[in-house]
Amino acid sequence: MSDGAVIVVQGGRVVTGDGEYDADVVIAGEKIVSVGEVSAPDGATIIDATGCVVLPGLIDNHTHLSMPFMGMQSVDDYDTGTRAAAAGGVTCLVDFAIQNEPDQLRSALAAWQGRADGAAHVDYGFHMAITNANQPTLEDMQAMVDAGVSSFKLFMAYKGSLMTRDDALTATLERARELGALTMVHAENGDVIDLLVTRALAQGNTSSIHHALTRPELVEAEATSRAARLAELTGASLFVVHVTCAAAAAEIDAAQQRGVNVSAETCTQYLVNSIDDLRRPGVEGCRYICSPPLRDASNQEPLWAFVRRGVLESISTDHCPFNDEQKARGLDDFSLVPNGLPLIQHRLAKLWDEGVVAGRITASELVDRTSTTIARRFGLDAKGSIAPGKDADIVVFDPNAPKPYGVASSFMNVDYDLYEGETASGSVRHTLCRGTMVYDRGEIRTAPGHGRYVARSASQTPVFAT
Ligand code: URP
Ligand code: ZN
Ligand code: ZN
Repeated sequence: MSDGAVIVVQGGRVVTGDGEYDADVVIAGEKIVSVGEVSAPDGATIIDATGCVVLPGLIDNHTHLSMPFMGMQSVDDYDTGTRAAAAGGVTCLVDFAIQNEPDQLRSALAAWQGRADGAAHVDYGFHMAITNANQPTLEDMQAMVDAGVSSFKLFMAYKGSLMTRDDALTATLERARELGALTMVHAENGDVIDLLVTRALAQGNTSSIHHALTRPELVEAEATSRAARLAELTGASLFVVHVTCAAAAAEIDAAQQRGVNVSAETCTQYLVNSIDDLRRPGVEGCRYICSPPLRDASNQEPLWAFVRRGVLESISTDHCPFNDEQKARGLDDFSLVPNGLPLIQHRLAKLWDEGVVAGRITASELVDRTSTTIARRFGLDAKGSIAPGKDADIVVFDPNAPKPYGVASSFMNVDYDLYEGETASGSVRHTLCRGTMVYDRGEIRTAPGHGRYVARSASQTPVFAT
């Protein structure tokens, strides 16, 4: 614990969502108290950040820890998943609790609280995924907002399990609007996907690539457009998760131009991986199965452009890891492969190289899209910035300390690494969460339970793209 002790992060280049400048950061206890040129008070602990950039802790607003899905469970729990988060410069995540009883949401929140309580190394909040938007459930949404769960997600895909219908989506949007809460959607047309999957399997098209071929871009664009129109109809705020392609992003752009309260994210993998990864042989191809799927690489530059414009206002990971043994269940039938990728540890290093070093975004834009805007959008009022009064969530990142990706240095509880064999040009040196060193040059310093539940505020103000 950091018990009021003073820490000075000295000599680094502070990057915020607005710009960057050389400054020291003074921390007292859990909070940042000043930023500028300071002489360290007597007895202060000095963290030397010379040659490094000093960033606000990243926030991952889209994770699935211990998620029950497709008859399995994702393999990172709140202990391993938040270790990996800290190693990747993440100091707060917002995970999806999933409704598991038809008439209420409280039991799901209690179940997820139970998983996280005493286990996490970094702070966390929850979204609530609604799988049955009946009247008692809609009423229960108030209790969620009161408990600091100010966003609700519906799946327009996964027919037969998580999928919602348009009437339920519309009723949820209306209720969320009343509560000042945010409705999130996984936008893919589940009925059409079901048709295409059934057809593909009947034709003997069973390998991993057919996962992507049965979920084409227009199926995502159509659902995105429909969700945006329903937000327009109801006057509610909508957030589209994991946008993968230019066609879907264009629908969001169009809705924003009409003045609809629609915001959206993409995920690291859609900016750096492509459909070709699904053509890898055997279980290697299965590792890249996620939904919506990885797309043709021609989408990547348009997606970066939408990120720069803020049409896609944030970049998360959709971390949902499954081991090879679980992925191999679908070697002869892609539809049985559990969907999801292990990525929580790699977002900063990947976006630094493919975004900042490659000249696609500035360091400041990286901070904005991975921390500041996420804090604002999801009501994490004490997070997302290096400024007096904010939580002392700080990452010291050395842009000149290359580090190989791979299982050997991964804290993710998964038996492969998507980027094995590649080397990042920079690496996280320290991650502090509320003034406590969680990750220190390759080691986790905290005990499980340092991470705390964060109740999120519920006011939805539109953040329009420029
Ligand atoms: O493939 C994915 N994305 N798995 C996690 C569940 C979801 O759809 O977000
Ligand atoms: Zn999804
Ligand atoms: Zn997800």
